[in-house]
Amino acid sequence: WIRAVAAAAIAYFCGCFNGAVIVSKYILRDDVRTHGSGNAGLTNFYRTFGGPLTFGVILTDVLKAIVALVVGGWLLVGHLPAGLPGPQEAYSDYWAGLFCLLGHMFPCMFQFKGGKGILSGGTIVIMIDWRVALVAWGGFLILVLLTRYVSLGSSSTGVTVPISTWLVYHDGILLLLSIIIGGLILWKHRGNIQRLLAGTESKFYFHKKVK
Ligand code: G3P
Repeated sequence: WIRAVAAAAIAYFCGCFNGAVIVSKYILRDDVRTHGSGNAGLTNFYRTFGGPLTFGVILTDVLKAIVALVVGGWLLVGHLPAGLPGPQEAYSDYWAGLFCLLGHMFPCMFQFKGGKGILSGGTIVIMIDWRVALVAWGGFLILVLLTRYVSLGSSSTGVTVPISTWLVYHDGILLLLSIIIGGLILWKHRGNIQRLLAGTESKFYFHKKVK
C-alpha cells in the first residue's frame, strides 16, 4: 500500500502542473481564471488568449498525465495483489489517472482552483485502453462538432468513461475508479450543465474570440 500512496501522491503532484494556469501566470503575466468562464483549462485559455501559447497548455497537460501514469505503472505494476481479474496496468492507470485529475482540478499550489480535467483525462484514457479512448473521444468529438458546445462533449465523458470501462474490463474496482473519475468531471461541469439546460452556454468557434 505504500506504493499505492506514493503513486497517488506523485500523480497528484504531476496533476497540479495546470497548463492554463502556468502559461497564463508565468508567461503572459495574467491569470486565465480571471477571464471568460473562469476555468483553468484549454477551452478558456484559447477563448481568452488564443495564439500559439495554446500549444504550451496542451503540452503541459498532456505531458503531466503521461508522467503520472508512467511513474504510477513503474511503482505499481508487478506489485499489486495477485488474483485481480483485470490487467495490472489498468489498475495502475486508473489509480494514477484519478489522482492526476485531482491535482489538475484542485492544485495545491494554485489555491486549489484548477480545471475540469478534459485534456488530461483525454490523455489518460488514451494510455488506458484504445477502446475506452475511442468511446470517450468519439462521443466528445461528435457532440462538439454537432452542437459547438465543448462542455457538452466534455460532460459526456463523465458517463462514457465508466460505461466503456465496464464494457472493456467487467471489473468492479475499475468501474468504481472510473465512476469516481466520471463523477469528478460531471461535478466540475455542473455550472456548464446548468447553462446548457438554460440555453445560455457559450458555443465554441475556432475563428472567434468570446469577450
Ligand atoms: O473542458 C472544459 C470545457 O468543457 C468547458 O470549459 O471554459 O467553457 O467552462 P469552459
